[in-house]
Amino acid sequence: MADQSELHASDDTNAAIWKSDEGISHWVATQDERERRRVEHRRMLADLLPFADDEAFNFLDLGAGTGAAAGTILSRFAHATAVLADFSPQMMEEGQRALAPFAGRYRYVELDMAGGQWPEELAGPFDAAVSSLCVHHLPDDRKASLFAEIGERLRPGGWYLNYDPVAADEPLVAEAWERAGDRQDPDAAHTRANRTPEEQRRWENHVRYITPLGPQIQWLRQAGFVGVDVYWKQLDHVIYGGCRPLETS
Ligand SMILES: C[S@@+](CC[C@H](N)C(=O)[O-])C[C@H]1O[C@@H](n2cnc3c(N)ncnc32)[C@H](O)[C@@H]1O
Repeated sequence: MADQSELHASDDTNAAIWKSDEGISHWVATQDERERRRVEHRRMLADLLPFADDEAFNFLDLGAGTGAAAGTILSRFAHATAVLADFSPQMMEEGQRALAPFAGRYRYVELDMAGGQWPEELAGPFDAAVSSLCVHHLPDDRKASLFAEIGERLRPGGWYLNYDPVAADEPLVAEAWERAGDRQDPDAAHTRANRTPEEQRRWENHVRYITPLGPQIQWLRQAGFVGVDVYWKQLDHVIYGGCRPLETS
């Protein structure tokens, strides 16, 4: 069974997986169970935004999928509006259903984050940008250039926050994460050892470009962000981010 180091960029299955009807049906059918474990993480992402509860602001949700991150923010801040970007027609269609309670406060725009070609509708400026569980689908050089492109679309003082899995720097750490994860989810070890070929394909796509935390923090700083920190962490999942500097005259 392939480990991450054996997964090659030439076998990149990301677009095929996220644009397949079968893959998205499965993802949507299993989403509620995953989201139950993420309620606090989603809330933390929203709590990190620097807006008053009744403030009006616009934000971008990249790789938004069915809108789990955007929905949490729209629910938390009653006057916020969102632009959700994704490249999967199926995920965006599901999102239109999931976000129906926020009709009039959000819109979807198609964007392939791997490409670097941003449509005019995503020129911004945005008061904030978020991404959740999608930047890890991009090769490292693209993660770094994406951070710079996000910074260019933020207003001065605008925050970017990313909720994502990261890779361990050393095997001992990976083992500790797995040990604790298996205790928290008694089915995890069995599931890992008994993947169907389709589950294996999805897992390989999931882990192909997951990378350690340290370089990602560096890329944010190199992109010009300040106030960069890992604001939350639980085993292999983190929320990191930073803010576009205020312009000085
Ligand atoms: C695991 S889902 C996460 C969705 C959502 N952000 C959430 O937190 O539930 C990954 C999402 O990233 C999107 N995605 C993956 N690669 C992408 C790319 N190159 N460009 C745009 N979206 C991408 C997928 O279509 C999918 O909606």
